[in-house]
Amino acid sequence: MSHREELAEIVDGLTAPRKHVSPKYFYDERGSQLFDRITELPEYYLTATEIDIMQRHAREIADRVGPQASLIEFGSGSSLKTRILLGHLHELAAYVPVDISEEHLLAAADAIRAEFPHIEVLPVVADFTKPFDLPSPKVMPVRNLVYFPGSTIGNLEYDDALGLLRVMHHEAGDNGALLIGVDLQKDPAVIEAAYNDAAGVTAKFNLNMLRRLNNEFGADFDLDAWAHDARYDPDAGRVVIRLVSDREQQVRIDDTTIEIDEGEAILTEYSHKYTLEGFAAMAAKAGFEVAQVWTDPDELFSVQYLLRRQEPRYED
Ligand code: TRP
Repeated sequence: MSHREELAEIVDGLTAPRKHVSPKYFYDERGSQLFDRITELPEYYLTATEIDIMQRHAREIADRVGPQASLIEFGSGSSLKTRILLGHLHELAAYVPVDISEEHLLAAADAIRAEFPHIEVLPVVADFTKPFDLPSPKVMPVRNLVYFPGSTIGNLEYDDALGLLRVMHHEAGDNGALLIGVDLQKDPAVIEAAYNDAAGVTAKFNLNMLRRLNNEFGADFDLDAWAHDARYDPDAGRVVIRLVSDREQQVRIDDTTIEIDEGEAILTEYSHKYTLEGFAAMAAKAGFEVAQVWTDPDELFSVQYLLRRQEPRYED
């Protein structure tokens, strides 16, 4: 997307009846740094718990997958979770990180090559929400293992999450499998604390969105007039993350003036939390069968291994 197209997308979202800005605009350099700090917060149980599950069960995961798999990661793969997996999978045929940002992807691929010199690393620049072509490793893979850690699936609304699972199903191919991190429904207080940390890093991260709109898209948001707001809606099973205006105000972006009421909000992200049954039902619609689920003792988070169902279903 060009800068012009991004600006048009942002203005569309800010002039919609329910104002919203895509979460992709969180991640400029400062936003990425703040997000890294979020993952280290004591309240943000997701990252530490997923790493813990991976460390405890890496051998069992590797045995399940079997030898000579090709590991296809949706995302650039700079995380510790990826390294744990790469360190345990048996005789990997190749590691294929897929990301839309070439710069990030190639830097992460180089770092992995340096750490795992015996693994063939074949980065693919692509928008993984749509089907893309896979490279051919020197060693013929026995199976493709799609990897999607971080419960990033939870940041998508139902139809988009299902669509992404369908792309994963396609890329996994015959005999393929999916290893995915999925955050679970739990005590709302635990979830809300993870998105409202005491140190205020999450608030800074959320507000950084407006700073970026000012810096890169010429908006004139007054950062002092907005507050971070994150609430868990147990019926919908999702955290709704917003920026709330503390006064009636006007904001200019491009040649548009936006009128904002006191208490009016801009939606910046959803983070869906699943039940095991709920996730299995969605995955089944995309043609996957849950073969094994690993969780932590408190059942905060899950790492799930899914197999492509053999027979196609024609109901949806
Ligand atoms: N993928 C992360 C999550 O849903 C993103 C995230 C964490 C986030 N904290 C946030 C997004 C605060 C917006 C605001 O957990």
